[in-house]
Amino acid sequence: MLTDELQKNLAKRIDGKLLEKDREKKSEKDGFGKNKTLDEVFDKSTTMTVSGMKNSGIISYVNGAVGSGKESKTFWAVDPTGNDLALKIYLVSTSNFKKRYPYLLGDPRFTKIRKGTRHLVELWAQKEYANLVQCHREGIPCAKPVAVVKNVLVMEFVGKNGVPDPLLVEAEVDYKDYEEAISILDVLYNKAKIVHADFSEYNIFKTEKGLVVFDLGSSVDTRHPNAMEFLERDIKNITKFFVKRGLTVTNPADILERIIR
Ligand SMILES: Nc1ncnc2c1ncn2[C@@H]1O[C@H](COP(=O)(O)OP(=O)(O)OP(=O)(O)O)[C@@H](O)[C@H]1O
Ligand SMILES: [Mg+2]
Repeated sequence: MLTDELQKNLAKRIDGKLLEKDREKKSEKDGFGKNKTLDEVFDKSTTMTVSGMKNSGIISYVNGAVGSGKESKTFWAVDPTGNDLALKIYLVSTSNFKKRYPYLLGDPRFTKIRKGTRHLVELWAQKEYANLVQCHREGIPCAKPVAVVKNVLVMEFVGKNGVPDPLLVEAEVDYKDYEEAISILDVLYNKAKIVHADFSEYNIFKTEKGLVVFDLGSSVDTRHPNAMEFLERDIKNITKFFVKRGLTVTNPADILERIIR
C-alpha cells in the first residue's frame, strides 16, 4: 500500500509531466516546435534584436518556448555563464495593443507616445522592464530584470531546467498564499508605487520560496488616474480565486482600505 505522502508525491509528478507535455504541444502549435528557429517565427527586426543580445553577451543562446500569450511569447534562454533567463518577446504583428493605450496614457513616466504599433509594442516592453526594476529595487518578489532592447525583455528565469515554476492556478494553495498575495499588492502600492492591473492566479508563480509576481506590462504608476480602480479590480480578482479554492478571506473593500491607508 502506498502511503498518503508517497501517493501525493506521485500525483504531483504525474501532474508535472502532463503539464510539460501540454507545454510542448502548445509550443509546437504556436509554430515554435523543437526544430524551429526564431527566424521562422519572428520578423526580421526581432531576430536582429535577439542576435544583438547574443553579440553583446546578454544571452548565449535561446532554447524552446515556455509560454505564449496573445501579445507575447516567452522563451528559455541561457546567458554566457550558464544561468537560465526568460526572454519575453512582444509580438509586433498583433493589433491587440490598441486596447493597451489606457494603461500607458496617464502614466507620468510615459508621456512621449508616438503613433504606430511597433513603437507602442516597444514602449510596452520598456514599461514592463521599468516596472520590474522598480519592484526589484524595493525587494518585491518578482523576476529580476536583466535587459530590454526594443520589443525583447530579458529577465531571470523562474523555474528549473527550462520548466517554469507552477503558476498559482496550477498549485495547491492555503491561507498563507492568500496573505502573501495580498501583501504583494500592498508592497507594490506602498513601496514600488505601482498597481499591477493584471493581478491574478495566472500571473503569479508559486515557488519553493514563496509567491513571485510577473507579467507587469499593464502595471501603472499609483498616480495614474485609474490606479485606484485597477487596484480594486486586482484585489477582487485574487480574492475570487482564493474563495473558489474554499478559503475564508477578508472582504475586498477592507483590504483596499488597509492598502491605501
Ligand atoms: N521569468 C519567467 N521565468 C519563467 N517562465 C516565465 C517567466 N515569465 C513568463 N514565463 C512563462 O511564460 C508564460 C507567459 O508569460 P506572461 O504572462 O508574462 O505573458 P503574457 O503575454 O501576458 O501571456 P498571457 O496573455 O497568457 O498572460 C507564463 O505563464 C510562464 O509560464
Ligand atoms: Mg500573463
